[in-house]
Amino acid sequence: MLDFGSQYSQLIARRIREAGVYSELIPGTTPWAVIEARRPKALVLSGGPSSVYEPDAPLCDPAVFAAGVPLLGICYGMQLLVHQLGGRVAAGARREYGAARINVDDPMLLFQGLATDLPVWMSHGDRVTEIPAGFRSLAHSANSPIAAMGDGAGRFGIQFHPEVIHTPPGREILRNFLYRVAGCRGDWKPATFIEQAVAAIRAEVGSRRVLCALSGGVDSAVAATLVHRAVPGQLTCLFVDNGLLRRDEGRRVIDVMGRHLGIELSSVDASADFLRALAGVIDPEEKRRRVGATFIEVFEREAGRLRGIDFLAQGTLYPDVIESTSHDTFAAHRIKTHHNVGGLPADLRFQLIEPLRYLFKDEVRAIGLELGLPEDMVHRQPFPGPGLAVRIIGEVTRERLDTLRAADWIVVDEIKAAGLYRSLWQAFAILTPLQSVGVMGDYRTYGSVVAVRAVESEDGMTADWARLPYDVLATMSTRIVNEVPGVNRVVYDISSKPPSTIEWE
Ligand code: XMP
Repeated sequence: MLDFGSQYSQLIARRIREAGVYSELIPGTTPWAVIEARRPKALVLSGGPSSVYEPDAPLCDPAVFAAGVPLLGICYGMQLLVHQLGGRVAAGARREYGAARINVDDPMLLFQGLATDLPVWMSHGDRVTEIPAGFRSLAHSANSPIAAMGDGAGRFGIQFHPEVIHTPPGREILRNFLYRVAGCRGDWKPATFIEQAVAAIRAEVGSRRVLCALSGGVDSAVAATLVHRAVPGQLTCLFVDNGLLRRDEGRRVIDVMGRHLGIELSSVDASADFLRALAGVIDPEEKRRRVGATFIEVFEREAGRLRGIDFLAQGTLYPDVIESTSHDTFAAHRIKTHHNVGGLPADLRFQLIEPLRYLFKDEVRAIGLELGLPEDMVHRQPFPGPGLAVRIIGEVTRERLDTLRAADWIVVDEIKAAGLYRSLWQAFAILTPLQSVGVMGDYRTYGSVVAVRAVESEDGMTADWARLPYDVLATMSTRIVNEVPGVNRVVYDISSKPPSTIEWE
């Protein structure tokens, strides 16, 4: 997939994989030589926010159109096909946005087996006014005389979005393109991915050694397990315990990866380094910066002790790749500086291995299960790189970490007991800097306020606060106040994202 910045690009790549065809997303302007080296069976040109006739509109390498590889241009992708092949695109009299119907005039292969009147989702301002030589119109809508086009030689353009659920026949159209036009077989599945990744890692690493930093999360665990399967005995894992993890998380990593899977694992308790770096820091961005910098410092120190290592394996995922490679104009405004175990400087002396760089979280989970990682590790809710440091509002101290860990344990425990863990994106506790008055027995107390946050989300980009049953909230509250020393009040966060964010810092 050539990405021109559509908000749906990732979704298209994903729909293609759901059809059992492996797909990768790369910047739309990538030179043909680089694309060709990946030997694609088909190319999809995504939509995007630009207008093809603007002077700085991102274009395809013209060699892409002449390569004889089946092409499907979607929205902006279709307009690019038209513009770069000599047709005309102009601003539409009015934007066409939302549900529409198209009439198929010529099914070619793309609409084979489908009705002639199809509900689709449109989202465009520009439209094709003159079709390029060799192409013919395949479908029209009330507002777009050319809603789909094809050249009979495997090149297609569609103005609507087949990837969204509001285009019910979208899957069938994509399948027609993949199977009938491009001759893909649709046999890609997690097991195939594992086989291919293992073979690729083996070929690349040979008899050399690999280092992998474990964070406690699913991504780094899956990356390490893949490398371990490919080159057993040549992987060393490093687990930096930053002291900012939840209760039991560190022990669990060591148990599963070290004892259960038999991976050589060295674990370092660096909590003192992190606490020192965070002493007196209140500003959220400064906390994030310091956690990131301390991680690099500790990692370099520990990795420096290991000799003869050439590769560094990282669990970088697709969304991370996209964020760092998107076209400048598409880059989102920085809300928070995200820190991951992947956030290492580029000048490290290792070659990188990133076996998951084209996958989504749920695909990584499926692969983790297939590799035999335990369910609770694979389905662990997302946890921020800077850990509990960004869930303690105000200064991070060992004592406050202990308080938050105890409260957080109860929140997760009750969520699991209510059978809600898997349906929530995240559920956790926040330690606020507030003190409030309470009464316990006959005594006045003056203690901390803990906030509980639980959200539903598809991807973490937007989120809604979870309507947790009152009974679950009541049990959590009672347990926190009774079991966590120094806490005498619990509040529930009822804000959505936007305008709030999921984490408080
Ligand atoms: P926000 O707070 O920005 O969080 O709404 C969105 C999602 O990202 C997680 N998050 C992070 N993940 N490193 C990460 O790997 C980070 O620095 C980081 N900060 C926030 C957050 O938990 C939520 O799922």
